[in-house]
Amino acid sequence: KAMAILDDFEDKCATPIGKLRQVADAMTVEMHAGLASEGGSKLKMLISYVDNLPTGDEDGLFYALDLGGTNFRVLRVLLGGKDKHVIKQEFDEVSIPPHLMVGNSAGLFDFIAEALKKFVATEGEGLHPFAGRQRELGFTFSFPVKQSSIASGSLIKWTKGFSIEDAVGEDVVGELTKAMERVGVDLRVAALVNDTIGTLAGGRYNNPDVVAAVILGTGTNAAYVERAQAIPKWHGVLPKSGEMVINMEWGNFRSSHLPLTEYDHELDLESLNPGEQIFEKIISGMYLGDIVRRVLLKMAEEAEFFGDTVPPKLRIPFILRTPDMSAMHQDTSSDLKVVGSKLKDILEIPNTSLKTRKIIVKLCDIVAVRGARLSAAGILGILKKLGRDVTREGDSEKQKSVVALDGGLFEHYTKFSKSMESTLKELLGEEVSEHIVIEQSNDGSGIGAALLAASHSQYLEEC
Ligand code: BG6
Ligand code: GLC
Repeated sequence: KAMAILDDFEDKCATPIGKLRQVADAMTVEMHAGLASEGGSKLKMLISYVDNLPTGDEDGLFYALDLGGTNFRVLRVLLGGKDKHVIKQEFDEVSIPPHLMVGNSAGLFDFIAEALKKFVATEGEGLHPFAGRQRELGFTFSFPVKQSSIASGSLIKWTKGFSIEDAVGEDVVGELTKAMERVGVDLRVAALVNDTIGTLAGGRYNNPDVVAAVILGTGTNAAYVERAQAIPKWHGVLPKSGEMVINMEWGNFRSSHLPLTEYDHELDLESLNPGEQIFEKIISGMYLGDIVRRVLLKMAEEAEFFGDTVPPKLRIPFILRTPDMSAMHQDTSSDLKVVGSKLKDILEIPNTSLKTRKIIVKLCDIVAVRGARLSAAGILGILKKLGRDVTREGDSEKQKSVVALDGGLFEHYTKFSKSMESTLKELLGEEVSEHIVIEQSNDGSGIGAALLAASHSQYLEEC
């Protein structure tokens, strides 16, 4: 009976290549709809106000804040202009106390401002050529924001594990600035960016062929460089570059072609944001472990998978985290020792048989592979929108399209990343694959935000 439950789940999670193509096509269609009008699609296709990506000439000392991933980071980056690039980079990392993620706006922003204040106080002697200047900051805020300029924008909604009602609709730069005043630290926010935009900017700084960025971490999302003329909903002045970077917020993508199961529906219903971020809930690190837990619970309840009682810990949402799932999935020992010890330590299920452990590895595989293949389909959707999913006559042999990738899921869950990359190759075919490069960029978004702060600095005219 347990096997029947697993087989049924596997069938419903299937992602044959034909289905992935339908998902990619649906993604492209929704991209057009989201660019055409406000509210035209589940894909918000947010305008970032970034119309120039870093060139390498950026110069000066900048701070960056990175909020919305697993950890909250503060960075200090010394940029050396042409040919010198990043001269020095320091950072500090703290995790956000869980109660602040669901409390009130002042609580969260005061915590951030305090951390920033402490970090600014450590600025070393060697950086004094910039003394006397107001410090400037790039703020990576990894949630959907409707921007009104490069350095202002209101929060549309929270995603992932955050839910702070009084911040929704507020200008997040205003909230941060007020908190900095309260705690007594003087910095000017020069750029407000999503983590995808920061990753794209950081990626482009290192490689001029970067055209898109994807985050596969706690949440998932993508950004890419669009032609400004292909954005009907943009009524502003056409930028000189002719380009505008778009934050897709693809985590909120949804389509009848997505392979959704009863477990996904239940997870969604019980989440902080029911009905939203459906693509994210079947792909990203915050949720994969909990999908596995839900299937195991059903197997325990209906098929006595762990004996005649249901292990009580199995009923606790999010107790099985994706890093634990990944460790079980990638257990190479012959007796699946890691699986055994995770079950014992986390779920308090002792003495599992090898057969039971093998079934659990299989379950992890089904969940991870579905997420990985769907994220590859998402990337194909973007490449299609850019017309880079095919080779055209006259295309230069060497012209590459690089997608910058960041996030803990991609970085640490090797079976996930390998599956994503091989699926993308399968979808593109051998010839096109040679032109498409996935480039891992760790912590690119912090540097990216600092670079964008530099290109929007109030001191730029003087330089
Ligand atoms: C980091 C980026 O490397 O990855 C962050 O600097 C981003 O901006 C994060 O949010 C996403 O990964 P995770 O796994 O921490 O959610
Ligand atoms: C969530 C956020 C999005 C962010 C992504 C990755 O989907 O809504 O803004 O880019 O997570 O961190």
